[in-house]
Amino acid sequence: MQYDSSFFDAPAVRRGTDSAKWDTFDRIYGGTDLIHVGCADMDFKSPPEICQAFKDAACHGIFGYTDLNPACFTGICAWYHSRHGIKVDPEEVLFTPRINIACGLCIEALTRPGDEVILNAPAYPPLKQAACDNGRFVLEAPLKTEGDSFVLDLPAVEAQITEKTHFMILVNPHNPTTRCWTVAELKEIADFCVRHELYLFVDEIHADFVKAGCIFHSILEAADEKLRERLIVANSPAKTFNVMGAQAAYLIVPNQHIRAAFNREMQRIGEHNPNLFANLVLKTVYQRCADYVPAVNAYIDQSESYIRREFMRLFPKLRILRREGTYLLWMDFREVFSTEQEMFSFFLNKARVEVYPGSHFGMDFAGFMRFNLAEPRPMLQEIVERIERALHA
Ligand SMILES: Cc1ncc(COP(=O)(O)O)c(C=O)c1O
Repeated sequence: MQYDSSFFDAPAVRRGTDSAKWDTFDRIYGGTDLIHVGCADMDFKSPPEICQAFKDAACHGIFGYTDLNPACFTGICAWYHSRHGIKVDPEEVLFTPRINIACGLCIEALTRPGDEVILNAPAYPPLKQAACDNGRFVLEAPLKTEGDSFVLDLPAVEAQITEKTHFMILVNPHNPTTRCWTVAELKEIADFCVRHELYLFVDEIHADFVKAGCIFHSILEAADEKLRERLIVANSPAKTFNVMGAQAAYLIVPNQHIRAAFNREMQRIGEHNPNLFANLVLKTVYQRCADYVPAVNAYIDQSESYIRREFMRLFPKLRILRREGTYLLWMDFREVFSTEQEMFSFFLNKARVEVYPGSHFGMDFAGFMRFNLAEPRPMLQEIVERIERALHA
């Protein structure tokens, strides 16, 4: 399939489809006139090949228990090889419906109640919940600002580690700061985890969204044999092809004992067969939809330029952090509004644009905002117009 910008420009009609981003947030905030750019869900259609696979399955008319086709596993391995130059053995790949579920199950399998889990702040909240809701504590590892970006501060984490710290979660590219960690940074984390005997869970769900000129490096590129013994890599085609609703994700786990422990957890929760649509996604997108990735990235890069230019015009005191990966923009509104509440209320009540405030990712980030760029450009233009009208009202 050849994509041009008209494919991504097409308006997304999602109200009335029980969309979590549109219908649920309409209900939460009251109103069907809002534009939602908080939730990290793209308002683009998925590749036609996967739509056709769903249609064919729907027309077949029988939706019984389904298992994963072996092509799902070979497709995942081929994807890691073609995109990142990394050889993955299909045996190391485990299915999971969602990364959020898998993270909780890994914590349950590999740590004990009361143990500590290291997580960078700002943090995507469900990963924090994966630890807290399973009776573990989160040891917050705040990222340090450096210029218009964020870096790790491992000495600060090292100072807090106790004999109960057994697990670390790393998100790469990082949500919400968008950092794609360098090989040197990944090696530093790998050494740190080996030195402190920590399991390392690396969430690479945003790996296919990389800004032109930036590079994503998988942890598998930086992992030596010692790290591979304690490594879990999580990924999914959900963000890449906008198929979150199908619940198809996977883990790459080099160590067979960790694989067995995870499989026991999947048995424990009764996850025997995947969703029929998960199988269709995993066997289709990696084999047949690769053309979508450069096209959607190019479109998002152009949208970023547009939003940067317009937001800086509208809010001259705004600081927009450097974007490396993901389809998110992380912005610092602390010089623009005196409180986060004022910022949120301006966007929600005056401009009728729903965004994620920074405090969602940790109280130290109140006054920041996460903005989803993966929207049809006419919708972004409408957002800019709404803000401009609200500012002049
Ligand atoms: C870093 C990160 N991990 C995981 C997820 C969700 O993954 P899943 O739907 O597979 O639980 C998201 C979604 O926004 C995310 O940003």
